[in-house]
Amino acid sequence: MEEFKNLILSLSDNILIITINREKHLNALNIETLEEIKTAIQSVCDDRDITGVIFTGAGEKSFVAGADISEFSGVNEVTGRKFSESGQEAFQMIENCNKPVIAAVNGFALGGGCELAMACHMRVATENAKFGQPEVNLGIIPGYGGTQRLTQLIGKGKALELMLTGDMISASEALKYGLVNYVVSTQEELIEKSKEILNKISKKAPLAVGMVIDCVNAVFTSGENGYQTEANSFSRCCGSDDFKEGTSAFLEKREPQFKGE
Ligand code: COA
Repeated sequence: MEEFKNLILSLSDNILIITINREKHLNALNIETLEEIKTAIQSVCDDRDITGVIFTGAGEKSFVAGADISEFSGVNEVTGRKFSESGQEAFQMIENCNKPVIAAVNGFALGGGCELAMACHMRVATENAKFGQPEVNLGIIPGYGGTQRLTQLIGKGKALELMLTGDMISASEALKYGLVNYVVSTQEELIEKSKEILNKISKKAPLAVGMVIDCVNAVFTSGENGYQTEANSFSRCCGSDDFKEGTSAFLEKREPQFKGE
C-alpha cells in the first residue's frame, strides 16, 4: 500500500479506509493533501481487491475543517480558479469512483470538508458532527463543488440558507435534511456502520454497482441524457457473466458468485 504524508491508508476485508491525517489543523485540506487524495482514489479504481472506500478524519474532533486557510494568502483570480478546479477534479474522481465511497464524518465537516463528504456516495456521521459551508465569512464561496452538491442533496432553499448564513448544522439536522444517511453515537460505531453498508454492497454484482453510480451521477451531469446512460448501462449488464450468474443463482436457489465480468 502506497505511503502518503497526509493520509493513512488501511485495507482490511477489501475495504480501504482513507484517514485524512492532519489532526493539529483539524484535518484541513492543503494542496498536498488534495493531490494525495487524487492519487489514492485513482489507485482504488484500478484495484480489484478493493470493494469499497471509507473517508474519515484523524482524531475525534474533526472530519475535515475545510480547505487550509493558511494557503489562501496571495491567492488571486487566476490562482483561485486553479484552486477551485483542482479541488473539483479531486472530488469528481471520488464521485465517479466505480466502487462505493462512504464519508465517515467524525466531527467538523466544514467548507471543503462538507464538500468532500458530499462527493462521497453516502455519509454516516457521529452525533458530534457539524456540517456547514462557512466560506461567506471569508469573502469566498464553496469552490470544490459545494454549491452544486449541497443543492442536489438538500434542495435549493436549505442549501441557500446554509451557504448564505455560513451557519453550522448538527448531525441530527443533517439527517433530517437528507445530508447524511445515518447518525451513530461513537466513532467505533461510525466505522462499523460504514463497513456494514460496504460489506452488503460487496456481495452485489460489481459491474452493476459501478453502473448504478454512473447512472445516478448522470442525473446531475448537464448535457447527459440519464435515460440513455441507463439503457446503455442496462444493456452492458445484460451482456455480462455476472448477469448470467445472478439469474442462474436465483433460479437454482443459491448465493451468486460474482466476478465483476
Ligand atoms: N485551515 C487551516 N487551519 C485550520 C482550519 C482551516 N480550515 N480550521 C482549523 N484550523 C486550525 C486552527 O487555525 C488551529 O490552529 P492553531 O492551533 O495553530 O491555532 C487549529 O486548527 C484548531 O482550530 P481552532 O480554531 O483553535 O479550534 P476551535 O475548536 O476553536 O474551532 C472550528 C473549530 C472548526 C470552528 C474553527 O477552527 C474554524 O472555524 N475553522 C475554519 C472553518 C472554515 O472556515 N472552513 C472553510 C474554509 S474555506
